[in-house]
Amino acid sequence: ITEMTERLEEVARSKDAVRSLDVDVAANELRRIIGFLRSRTGHDFSSYKRATVMRRVIRRMQVCRLDSLTAYAELLQETPEEAKELFSDLLISVTSFFRDARAFEALKHQVIDCIMDVDQADSTEEGVRAWVVGCATGEEAYSLAMLLLEAAHERNLQIPIQIFATDLDEGALATAREGRYPRSIEVNVSAERLARFFVDEGTHFRVRKELRDMVVFAVHSVLKQPPFLRLDLVSCRNLLIYLERSLQQQLYTLFHYGLKSGRFLFLGSAETADTSTELFAPLDREARIYATRPRGVPNLPLLPQYPTPERLTHQRPTGTAAFDGPQVVVAQHAGALERSGPPSALVDAGGTLLNLSPTAGRFIFHSAGPPSTQLASMVRPELRLDLKLALALALDSRRTTLTHSVTVAFDNERRRVSMHVAPVVTSAPSIRQALVSFLDGDVVDDEDGIIGAEELRPEEVPRLHAELKAAQEALVASRSGHDATIQDLRATNEELQSTNEEYRSTAEELETSREELQSINEELHTVNAELKGKLENLSVAHSDLQNLTAVMEIGTLFLDAELRIKMFT
Ligand SMILES: C[S@@+](CC[C@H](N)C(=O)[O-])C[C@H]1O[C@@H](n2cnc3c(N)ncnc32)[C@H](O)[C@@H]1O
Repeated sequence: ITEMTERLEEVARSKDAVRSLDVDVAANELRRIIGFLRSRTGHDFSSYKRATVMRRVIRRMQVCRLDSLTAYAELLQETPEEAKELFSDLLISVTSFFRDARAFEALKHQVIDCIMDVDQADSTEEGVRAWVVGCATGEEAYSLAMLLLEAAHERNLQIPIQIFATDLDEGALATAREGRYPRSIEVNVSAERLARFFVDEGTHFRVRKELRDMVVFAVHSVLKQPPFLRLDLVSCRNLLIYLERSLQQQLYTLFHYGLKSGRFLFLGSAETADTSTELFAPLDREARIYATRPRGVPNLPLLPQYPTPERLTHQRPTGTAAFDGPQVVVAQHAGALERSGPPSALVDAGGTLLNLSPTAGRFIFHSAGPPSTQLASMVRPELRLDLKLALALALDSRRTTLTHSVTVAFDNERRRVSMHVAPVVTSAPSIRQALVSFLDGDVVDDEDGIIGAEELRPEEVPRLHAELKAAQEALVASRSGHDATIQDLRATNEELQSTNEEYRSTAEELETSREELQSINEELHTVNAELKGKLENLSVAHSDLQNLTAVMEIGTLFLDAELRIKMFT
């Protein structure tokens, strides 16, 4: 009892300490903690929602009887076991069979039936392929397997069905592979399905082999390992709610890449792909079912925690050589291309400069007046007209142009320069960008400038010059008229967009609160499960005590502090 009061005091103290944490200090310490965790486990939680990570860290602090984040960071640095504990606390693996029954009902009618409505003859050798991302202890993957198998039997269809179910949590995956679940699953699985897909083992139900063989469980981080491909369905439920918005967006691109055209994405009840309308069209908003929109040229999106050389230097290898090897080579290839390719610049749909390669600076020449962000107004004057025309072709008509070489006067020499301007293929067709490569030719001698001049009659040269100048001026004038109209349209468009953004941000705030509530709810589930376990232990101890007093046959009085009888045998 003395220990208990001490322990309660400690918990109260650590709660007070946590409440009085300075926000900036807390943010710094949290960053350190996430860094240690990354170096110990190889997994980076920096883009998981801060509030969730903070709550889990505070929980661990209380378990370890620490009252400052600094002390906890030190403990984490020194104790590998604590990193494992925090890691598994962060992976909240709450799940159940047919979680959100209405959504699964909608999935059955709108997705499973559609996938299975194929002729035996038409079905490909690959059959049906689904990916359950963040499958926890496997209930979701088996629910899906049951639906697919039922649909195949109804149609008398014999095609291969493969479900890849992945998670970071090895312990949860071991439970999933075992396929043994407590009797309480009767609440969510109908008696008919229990009889058909499970073996009653008395205290437990075990998933039948037929169903287990359909699902391949694997350790896999959706943030840093390549996606599964040629999929009919991706089910990623109640994982995105833990991630920052930007990371959610990247995962939508990844899922789109993995899915066949027109195939399906199934999300959790507080998640939405409405922010990626260029990739997914809603099929049933309420059930969170989406279908991929047709894509342009498929392009492997950068994995959210893609192991670039910089990231690799502070990440421990995690035994996933089969995945990491090719990615490192890809990163090295990209780096080498950047270093040895021609100087280049990336511009957006409006011609605004987004990025310059390291050696492209010498092609930039700011004229007097207010600085512009338009690449065509920033390059050396000799290149401006050609670049304007080539950019218009690349951005408006998606055509690649190689401009004629022109002589450009650099500080102490004159060189021939041409430009290769090409539209950039991005994974989102609505994003338009162009890549301008500056192709640097030879130095121009003064003699070079007059080569060929003797082929022209001398009296024609001034006339041709004048004509050329007039044509160029006409072009520039028409272009600037065009530019002015575009500017007006753009201004109107921007106003509309900003109003739209305001609406969207209000909607996003609401959505974020909803996600937050859902993740708190999941955490409460785990706390509840822990409490239940403790209650069970207590009742066992109580019945042991009762048995002991019954067999002892010694009269016993239980007194309180004032020696009043509380209980007697
Ligand atoms: C709340 S559970 C959701 C379980 C199930 N999808 C459902 O909705 O019932 C979230 C799961 O995502 C997993 N997870 C978290 N980060 C992950 C990552 N980067 N890659 C794969 N799984 C991850 C966790 O281990 C956890 O099992």
